[in-house]
Amino acid sequence: MYSNQTLVLIKPDAVSRHCIGEILGRLEAAGFAVTGLVMRRLSREQAGEFYAIHRDKEFFPGLVEFMTSGPLVAVRLTGEDACRRVREFVGSTDPAKAAPGTIRADFGTSVRTNAVHASNPEEDVRRELEFFFPEAGDTRR
Ligand code: RTP
Ligand code: MG
Repeated sequence: MYSNQTLVLIKPDAVSRHCIGEILGRLEAAGFAVTGLVMRRLSREQAGEFYAIHRDKEFFPGLVEFMTSGPLVAVRLTGEDACRRVREFVGSTDPAKAAPGTIRADFGTSVRTNAVHASNPEEDVRRELEFFFPEAGDTRR
């Protein structure tokens, strides 16, 4: 079920640089449907919980600092194989290594300030979606 839905976060760096519209526009133009949208400012506790998988990494404190530095936009996207395809569309974690034309290549500025998050099909997509969209199901139905 969740292979056809995924979560994208437009991170605080992209929000502060006024890139919300362009990023949403690219995702829609690529054929993904926006089926949930909310702007939130996370607390340190919430950011830590969302990225709990990275709690023991050396970059974790900097990641929490960054993700709480301003509001972010959470987007639920729906489409055939959306989870895997959106990850490809977003590009590698480090914008300098991301393929040309990907969102991170065009909007990211460092390995930390990389403009967007996209759920990984190998991780808990359902948990990530419910973190921002606790109501069940697809809003279009
Ligand atoms: P994301 O979860 O945000 O979609 O990114 P990802 O899967 O491509 O990368 P991941 O390894 O899950 O890392 C999560 C986020 O942590 C920040 N990061 N900083 N060396 C560093 O300073 C470093 N490495 C990762 C990035 O914001 C990355 O997206
Ligand atoms: Mg990740």
